[in-house]
Amino acid sequence: MSSIESALNEIRVFHPSEEFVKQANVSGMDAYLALCKEAEDDYQGFWGRLANENIAWKKPFTKVLDESNAPFFKWFEDGELNVSYNCLDRHLATQPKKTAIIFEADNGAVTNISYHELHARVCQFANGLKSRGIKMGDRVVVYMPMSIEAVVAMQACARIGAIHSVVFGGFSSKSLYERIHDAKACAVITSDAQMRGGKVIPLKPAVDEALTLGDCRSVHSVIVYQRAKCDTAWNAEHDIWWHDLIAGQSEVCDPQWVGAEHPLFILYTSGSTGAPKGVQHSSGGYLLMVKLSLQWVFDYKPTDVFWCTADVGWITGHSYVAYGPLAMGATQVIFEGVPTYPDAGRFWKMIQDHKVTTFYTAPTAIRSLIKLGEDLPDKYDLSSLRLLGSVGEPINPDAWMWYYNKIGQARCPIVDTWWQTETGANMIAPLPGAMPIKPGTCTLPLPGIKSGIVDEVGHDVLGQNGGFLVIKRPFPSQIRAIWGDPERYKKSYFPEEMNGYYLAGDSAHLDEDGYTWIMGRIDDVLNVSGHRLGTMEIESALAAHELVSEAAVVGRPHDIKGEAISAFVVLKGARPEDPAEIRKIAQILRDWVGKQIGPIAKPDEIRFGDNLPKTRSGKIMRRLLRTIAKGDEITQDVSTLENPAILEQLKNAVH
Ligand code: WT7
Repeated sequence: MSSIESALNEIRVFHPSEEFVKQANVSGMDAYLALCKEAEDDYQGFWGRLANENIAWKKPFTKVLDESNAPFFKWFEDGELNVSYNCLDRHLATQPKKTAIIFEADNGAVTNISYHELHARVCQFANGLKSRGIKMGDRVVVYMPMSIEAVVAMQACARIGAIHSVVFGGFSSKSLYERIHDAKACAVITSDAQMRGGKVIPLKPAVDEALTLGDCRSVHSVIVYQRAKCDTAWNAEHDIWWHDLIAGQSEVCDPQWVGAEHPLFILYTSGSTGAPKGVQHSSGGYLLMVKLSLQWVFDYKPTDVFWCTADVGWITGHSYVAYGPLAMGATQVIFEGVPTYPDAGRFWKMIQDHKVTTFYTAPTAIRSLIKLGEDLPDKYDLSSLRLLGSVGEPINPDAWMWYYNKIGQARCPIVDTWWQTETGANMIAPLPGAMPIKPGTCTLPLPGIKSGIVDEVGHDVLGQNGGFLVIKRPFPSQIRAIWGDPERYKKSYFPEEMNGYYLAGDSAHLDEDGYTWIMGRIDDVLNVSGHRLGTMEIESALAAHELVSEAAVVGRPHDIKGEAISAFVVLKGARPEDPAEIRKIAQILRDWVGKQIGPIAKPDEIRFGDNLPKTRSGKIMRRLLRTIAKGDEITQDVSTLENPAILEQLKNAVH
């Protein structure tokens, strides 16, 4: 693995203050090591103890882990629970009046909702779902803006045992169609529109269009939350307003008890090949680890005001908005709008207004807010903060230092949390009262998580060399399957040569303290603004356009987004020479990709050539394309290239 080299050499170390250590849930390195040792000595006993302490079981489990059909692991299998019960009913006796959600709308309007009220609304909506015949095991697509209702929709599904599949509101009708179709969803929950940055952005039309793109006969109900009261086309056959659905429904709904392995949700994510993968999560194991990570990594205290800025369309919004904070009985902030409206101080103002203690966001957001208003945080009182978090991609040390000094005022530890859609919860992250932190590393694995760095055949790499990041033992919150495709699940995550380890798809290395440094993806997956996008998907979208004969997509480093998307396109007809014509075609293709996948996947630049650089066996040489996209001189060996002249063409044309 000598080809994976680390360029970073960060030596700053930050220790938690004595005060922080004293109050921490896991206080000091010895406490962390004791938990690790407990897991090491008795793996099943460790997870079994935590599952008993943290989850209200309707029926207790008798067996912790079943590995007999690896890699199809089963956790707490004969136990029965309900996730919504654990998030809501559990708190009714102790803290019914506590605020569960502080919702701030795009225009600044604030709505507080207590645990008692949230429970009532979830029950009422769950009864509404039942009135449409929706039952345990049915798949329900949620295509909603950030709102209390989005959380209500997810929790209501969990309450009746329906499996939700949340589709990010920024995805196109085509992506939405593919997800509806793949999961054979029976219902779609959406809203007329979403409000972002002072604008009304319609959502329902994308659902209408999705249903025309192919076989969606499974869908019998489209439930529409009225957010913007804008004109909305209506199909009386299956459309129903949210407010009509819940009218007259009872605010009591007995939870559907499900087995611990019952799928709580599917969430689609990009892979390196083929269509997006429907990552299927469990109920018991998933709930356990989102709760544990809140206690261990976020050092959760009942007095906290927790704010994770992620959209519920991503895994972060599932684990640290819709489930984790509610399972802990926390007060959390949910924000409808964008961080730059009305200006780039919005987050900082909201931290001040809502006295946020724990703030969890992505490096891409931090970088863009630095760029748009480095000194804006000074205008606000950020003294409520006690802990900061980062997720989605490696955080560069410059952004880390700004976050630490400007937002955390050199007082708040930063938890840089490494995990994935497939892991469900934080895997490698500091326990902030236990270990010192360094800018750019996610530090050490959570207790019970056995991560490692291995070579191509699953052997540990020595010293500080780079390699493949793996997790060596099954863990409760891990992906259970790719929906409808068990073979792909096995091939993607447990390839034979990896010794039965879970292959994360990232490269990483350890430093002298055993801290993990993530170096990047090993597959053709881009990380744009903290979100995984398959180059394959973007390539297929481009190739599907009538003007395009062939396309290749690579990433190049980008100051704010982490990675930008560079596309190399061969057109069917002659390559146009006129710059205006070229720009026009580039724009058409960008818009096309936006429509096929979503605006997030639009190429930042498109280069046109008469061909793509290929080996004699016809393989596109992506390494070369990456070099060209970066604007670097080509120093690689091009002797195996079929058509070297093409390089000059591609180097020159950026649009
Ligand atoms: C990929 C997972 C986990 C929620 C958001 C993204 C990258 C994630 C970190 C981090 C370095 C990170 C990895 C990972 N990643 N967090 N703290 N440091 N890289 O979820 O879309 O499933 O993407 O994001 O490459 O594999 P996802």
